Amino acid sequence: MPRIAYVDGQFVRHGDASVHVEDRGLQFGDAVYEVWAVRNGILFDSEGHLARLARSLAALQIKAPRADQSLMIVVRELMTRNKLKDGLVYLQISRGVARRDHPFPAHSRPSIILTARPMNMAQADARAAKGIQVQTRPDNRWGRVDIKTVNLLPNVLAKQAALEAGFQDAWFIDGSGMVTEGTAQNAWIVDSTGTLRTRPATHAILRGITRDTIIKTAQALGFAFEEKAFSRDEALQAREAFITSATSFVTPVIGIDGEKIGEGAPGPIARKLRETYLSQQTSVKKP
Ligand SMILES: Cc1ncc(COP(=O)(O)O)c(C=O)c1O
Repeated sequence: MPRIAYVDGQFVRHGDASVHVEDRGLQFGDAVYEVWAVRNGILFDSEGHLARLARSLAALQIKAPRADQSLMIVVRELMTRNKLKDGLVYLQISRGVARRDHPFPAHSRPSIILTARPMNMAQADARAAKGIQVQTRPDNRWGRVDIKTVNLLPNVLAKQAALEAGFQDAWFIDGSGMVTEGTAQNAWIVDSTGTLRTRPATHAILRGITRDTIIKTAQALGFAFEEKAFSRDEALQAREAFITSATSFVTPVIGIDGEKIGEGAPGPIARKLRETYLSQQTSVKKP
């Protein structure tokens, strides 16, 4: 079955899909994106991702090219055409095509790209059952990483460096020695007092949609929780650490820079949050 993409109003074979050479997403990174997880044919946290998309577009003064409902019709059609049961849906909206020049063009129509790809959930679950090791790297990103733009080069380079050094991912550290987040995930610990901690959602992190849902889940489960930054040393002294994102759900972090966290194995709180999150998402059919 051929993979199908969606580009500016048309469903096309993935291999034939293309954008204009003067698309501002390509020329300037003048574009935003979203990623949804799909499990058992269910789109996770769909409203949260749409709300963040609206915030990202507004921050860049790009007019939403489609209303949410109409966009979701396209997303669902893409899932159907790709027979997507377990996987990811990627959306990118750029300011559109215009003669290359820095200022916003007077008239441009935002471009939409949507792609879907399967994900092996058994492999993702096995990775979570084992836990991952991260490497810390200086956070050298721009000051508005709260906007979900496609400008991901520091994230790409940090991930690549971490993989080449034998780790599974990287955690960014800010100028004060505090963990900001992962290359494509929010960072969490269960600190030495048993309190769940993740960094407040300022301009220094992307406010993950999974993070927001996990905060509610943790509170509903009665876990102590605080939005408070933590240092690399606090993470090393923590009982547990984990990451959250649409692509990893909740995945335990068992080591940092080659040093173990706790027993060096996934902890009970991360495991409970992952199980609860997956069962909540897959038990409620989203509109
Ligand atoms: C830098 C960064 N932080 C956090 C996240 C997690 O966000 P979400 O839970 O919405 O996937 C992502 C997701 O792509 C990300 O790129």
